[in-house]
Amino acid sequence: MKLPNMLEAKKRTTAIPKFFDYEDNKSKFGLGKKYFIRTYGCQMNEHDSENIKGLLESAGFSESEDLNSSDVVIMNTCAIRENAHNKVFGFLGQMKKLKEVNPNIIVCICGCMAQEKSVVDEIMKKYRWVDLVFGTHNLNEMLSYLEKNIINKEKIIEVESIEGNVCEGLPVKRDSKITAWVNIILGCDKFCTYCIVPYTRGKQRSRKKEDIINEIIELKESGYKEVTLLGQNVNAYGKDLYDNYDLSDLLNDVSNIGIERIRFVTSHPWDFTDRMIEIIKTKENVMPYVHLPIQSGSNRILKLMGRRYTKEEYLKLFDKLSDIENISITTDIIVGFPGETEEDFNETIDVVNKCKFDGAYTFIFSPRENTPAALMEDNISEEEKNNRLQRLNKIVNKYSNENNKKYMGKIVKCLILGESEKDPCKIMGYTENMKLVNIEGDKSLIGKIVNVKITDAKSFSLDGKIEE
Ligand code: 5AD
Ligand code: SF4
Repeated sequence: MKLPNMLEAKKRTTAIPKFFDYEDNKSKFGLGKKYFIRTYGCQMNEHDSENIKGLLESAGFSESEDLNSSDVVIMNTCAIRENAHNKVFGFLGQMKKLKEVNPNIIVCICGCMAQEKSVVDEIMKKYRWVDLVFGTHNLNEMLSYLEKNIINKEKIIEVESIEGNVCEGLPVKRDSKITAWVNIILGCDKFCTYCIVPYTRGKQRSRKKEDIINEIIELKESGYKEVTLLGQNVNAYGKDLYDNYDLSDLLNDVSNIGIERIRFVTSHPWDFTDRMIEIIKTKENVMPYVHLPIQSGSNRILKLMGRRYTKEEYLKLFDKLSDIENISITTDIIVGFPGETEEDFNETIDVVNKCKFDGAYTFIFSPRENTPAALMEDNISEEEKNNRLQRLNKIVNKYSNENNKKYMGKIVKCLILGESEKDPCKIMGYTENMKLVNIEGDKSLIGKIVNVKITDAKSFSLDGKIEE
């Protein structure tokens, strides 16, 4: 048994991460058995779940949509805010009842919550029937834990609190045949004072450029139209691995592979260089969409957050990015950071009024275990925090709506991904700059890039029809 240790997780040394290839143990112990997986949180977790599915299927398991008839249930968890926690504990309540009816069902918890000491302590105390807990650093060991658990019927808790390694060649079962996630950098070294990610995901580790490029060549050869380069801070790519190769070089090399669309998330303003902007501007298959979290518009709060830029510096970068033809820029904003005054909040509103973002994900500050901000004095009432969030959302939505309205009557290129969720008679896709469009059109267009005429615009999506 190995329990998480948040102090160990915080350590950063100069040690070079271990790079290694996944070794399949070839045991088909899952044949005839079914698994059910639920994923919480960010795109990294979505992609980890694609690896979990790949691993399980390599051992013979098959996926089930039905929780009640599955043999193994996996919860791939998120720790970013308290409500992510609450969702998992809510689902665990449901699992308890299922386990009472069917004691043979195997319940696994993995992902970011498994890296938190308080969570694992609670599981050991109140949810003793959970069978397997493992963290973000040892996904490659998952099958051996599971097999041991099935053979010995013993509970397994194995959470590594290390800086992290880089495992190549994990099996993967991708959710889409059109768009694919590709990790380029793991972990984070920024240690923004509110954020738990550097503790749950470890040190910033770039994958080798050859491994990334080969993965994308394979994706292109198997018919994929779009890749999204993933990382907590993709703009730091290469800094930990190369003297002279960064995200702009990687984007350039990936662009030359000739895959139709290339995206990248998430960007940190600190690491954004002019060369990266130039590449987005000039490379036709690098999409004009940037997710650029600002978090706050107040320099005082930005300093307390440890964000390493000022409002003015952010605005300067925003202006440079705005020069890119057809670009859309979205952001993340936290309200109610400890000590945030009405004045600080108004600075945030001011930035939103200046940037008129295409979209913003807005959050109320949530204190996270062992992070510096969790210890800062927080004297803002819940009511006030909610009130600020609502005021902010109103302005954010106004600009999303106004920006979308500009597309009325225009013809845009969309990559069609599938049936529309809103209306199964329609199809849906994304524009180059990441606007969701629900389209009157034939399902045979799924997987194709087509011209679409925009007929209506809402805050969060557009409507359109195929332009012949
Ligand atoms: N409380 C609220 N929001 C947070 N985020 C990260 N940590 C916290 C926290 N403790 C938000 C940030 C980040 C996004 C992924 O989640 O805005 O960019
Ligand atoms: Fe968290 Fe900051 Fe790293 Fe983003 S850059 S994952 S907010 S520590």
